[in-house]
Amino acid sequence: MTVLYSITMRKIFIIGNWKTYPMQGSIDEWVASGVAKKTDIEKTLQAKDQEAVVIVCPPMTRMYDLQQAIINHHAENFINIASQDLSAFPPGAHTGDESAEELKKRFGITYTLIGHSERRRDYGEKDDLLTKKVEQALQYGIIPIYCVQDEKDTIPQGVTIVAYEPPYAISAMSGGVAEDPQKTEYVANIVREKLLTMYNNSQETFVLYGGSVNAANVASFTNNPKLKKSFDGALVGAKSLIPEFFQIVENA
Ligand code: PGA
Repeated sequence: MTVLYSITMRKIFIIGNWKTYPMQGSIDEWVASGVAKKTDIEKTLQAKDQEAVVIVCPPMTRMYDLQQAIINHHAENFINIASQDLSAFPPGAHTGDESAEELKKRFGITYTLIGHSERRRDYGEKDDLLTKKVEQALQYGIIPIYCVQDEKDTIPQGVTIVAYEPPYAISAMSGGVAEDPQKTEYVANIVREKLLTMYNNSQETFVLYGGSVNAANVASFTNNPKLKKSFDGALVGAKSLIPEFFQIVENA
């Protein structure tokens, strides 16, 4: 796992989900903009006693380019590549899928999204299928970032990172209006309880927020004294394709 700084600090996850949005500039420029800011980000986070795990989920068609840009800019210890989804099956006769085994072998991914609300909506993905995807990921050492849209969604065994994303707050639906952080508490607390019960408090678990996160509002989720417990990071869609993404990392 690539993290900035020591493991004694509070760990936050900032995850960029590029979906199939077009990039405004080149991937190389995007990575370069992050690398140029890395020292500032490090200083700011250190002052907050935080370390950041920065993860980017490109569409499959851009995964190779992102991998190359990261290598070109020596950003391997800064930006982790992840997938937006993966196959519920081992490699074989599954047209259109991307297997966990190949994603691991080819791109060395450490994380994957599973159960994003857009996949639940577009493809009717349900608990049984999502559980199989989690199992595939874990079998190949890929950590699932499991997305839930409300307190009713089941969390499969083995999941330690959950992203709570109210679908109505996702920028494509809300026009960029995030959920009121205090209104996230109900679901976030239930998710935390579920994780606590699943592992009997013996496992480090993380709950992230997603939905119209930007550089101005990220801290209201990750460092908000009005919340009983702030989120351990953010899942960022629209704002992850532009250099603002790295400002979000710094401001988290
Ligand atoms: P958004 O997307 O930041 O554009 O709202 C978040 C997501 O869907 O993961």
